[in-house]
Amino acid sequence: MKRDLLSIRDLSADEIVALISRAETMKRELAEGNLRQSLRNKVVALIFVKPSTRTRVSFEAAIYRLGGHSIFMSARDTQISRQEPLADTARVLARYVDAIVIRTFAQEDVTELARYASIPVINGLTDRYHPCQVLGDLLTIKEKRGTLENLHVAWIGDGNNVAHSWINAAARLGFTVSLACPSQYLPDREILEWAEYQGKGKVIMAASPKEAVASADALYTDVWASMGQEEEADARRSIFRPFQVNEGLLSAAPAHAIVLHCLPAHRGEEITNAVMEGPQSAIFDQAENRLHIQMALLDWLLSDNAPKRGGK
Ligand code: CP
Ligand code: NVA
Repeated sequence: MKRDLLSIRDLSADEIVALISRAETMKRELAEGNLRQSLRNKVVALIFVKPSTRTRVSFEAAIYRLGGHSIFMSARDTQISRQEPLADTARVLARYVDAIVIRTFAQEDVTELARYASIPVINGLTDRYHPCQVLGDLLTIKEKRGTLENLHVAWIGDGNNVAHSWINAAARLGFTVSLACPSQYLPDREILEWAEYQGKGKVIMAASPKEAVASADALYTDVWASMGQEEEADARRSIFRPFQVNEGLLSAAPAHAIVLHCLPAHRGEEITNAVMEGPQSAIFDQAENRLHIQMALLDWLLSDNAPKRGGK
């Protein structure tokens, strides 16, 4: 059976741990100049309906560094923009390439593409999830903290796609995530209920940002208005103001806590310049690790010892 990464839920705890350790190995091999060319003769298509810097470039760089080829497709230049069904696009692309990375709005579109593609499909962000981001972030936390045991991540701000992936990860791996979000912008209830049903890890809705960070190992924030919500940005700015990650909030966290942000950041909104550039910020190492985790993911999904591919 081919495997997809549509959400963190597609992976078992053991698979997440194995991916992180594969990424650590591949990061070292890349630095030493002896990375195995496990994507030789493999072609990966990237369909992007939304903009991207990190996800696009880290995937393309990962593919090249592993000896493969990438084809970037801005959706507006394809027949997708003229309503060609995703089911048709999936079946056609599967005859040309070995995997698809897609960034789009609806999670259902990614599911539909994966249903009809006989090749692995990777979610490069939807309105609902951003699984590659959180896998890379777990690698960063493991590097900085030495372990993922007894981890506590505090999420401050919008209960958005990245927050959803954190909740999925907490329930899969069994760690704690405490969230401080404005009451109108809580994470989706289905995701909270799913996490509770797993009976593993802890998802805490905190009463305030200070409460959320009090015993956290990592403080995490993201933009107040995500891609597609640009028209809400002004209204959100005043609602989210008390949810800024600033020096005051950081001083309420344990001294060992690191600060993470998936980027792009709006300095002066969800995070201050002082915190972003301060000694506890791991944000640029975090951005780098997108490359390494995605090398591991592509290697796992596409190399010769990959999970077997099923036909459709
Ligand atoms: N963090 C992240 O996914 O960044 P891009 O939107 O630049 O890909
Ligand atoms: N929540 C943000 C993440 C960007 C990487 C967005 O969806 O725009």
